[in-house]
Amino acid sequence: MRTIAVINAKGGCGKSTIATSLAAALAWEGHSVALGDMDPQQSTNDWLGLRGEDAPEILAVNRQGGPLRAPSEADTLILDTPAGLHGTELGHVLRRAETILVPILPSPVDMRAAWRWLNHLAELKPVVQKETVVGLIANRVRPHTIIYRELTGFLNEFRFPVIGQLRDSMNYVRAFERGLAVSDLPPYQAWQDWEEWEPILAWIRSRRSRGKA
Ligand SMILES: Nc1ncnc2c1ncn2[C@@H]1O[C@H](COP(=O)(O)OP(=O)(O)O)[C@@H](O)[C@H]1O
Ligand SMILES: [Mg+2]
Repeated sequence: MRTIAVINAKGGCGKSTIATSLAAALAWEGHSVALGDMDPQQSTNDWLGLRGEDAPEILAVNRQGGPLRAPSEADTLILDTPAGLHGTELGHVLRRAETILVPILPSPVDMRAAWRWLNHLAELKPVVQKETVVGLIANRVRPHTIIYRELTGFLNEFRFPVIGQLRDSMNYVRAFERGLAVSDLPPYQAWQDWEEWEPILAWIRSRRSRGKA
């Protein structure tokens, strides 16, 4: 089973939004996807609870105090994580996940927080040894703004690839509160978001996002 984790030191940057969106997109591709929520706030688990029968199924993960255990029929496990992952918890996620997605907002506070944390991440053993591959996602972007240009410049400073950018869209907010993701919305409403997910999904499908076993 392949494990993909969504992490960032900051809260509110879109981890749960991206974890649920990715889970839905891969479920639409026919994958058997499990979604694990490591955040005590449990917003991703709540989302899963709202998900209706009409949308492609995403499997829940049992916790019961112990480690997250994905159902055996899952081929992909997506992990949503709490803000402030550091030390042993971060190490644990890196050992477990072959692929890491890091959403970053076009905000000075978020960029400053991400700077040290991403540099720290780049020095950790599984990342150095390429057992874990990291991809950055610019989230809630509004093109043609100064801060967007600053974010683009900032993200290019790292040796991690920028695998995509997602616009600031109410589609994410509205879908989330119904247990849905943008890939569950009709194309006339969400075609722009579908298009933005394409390069991210292409990267996920490719060898480039797979760690050396
Ligand atoms: N691309 C986006 N466009 C609009 N709103 C977004 C987008 N990504 C996230 N949000 C909103 O931002 C807030 C924080 O996102 P969330 O995924 O909960 O962040 P985190 O899990 O990192 O704390 C939520 O209200 C969410 O709906
Ligand atoms: Mg969250």
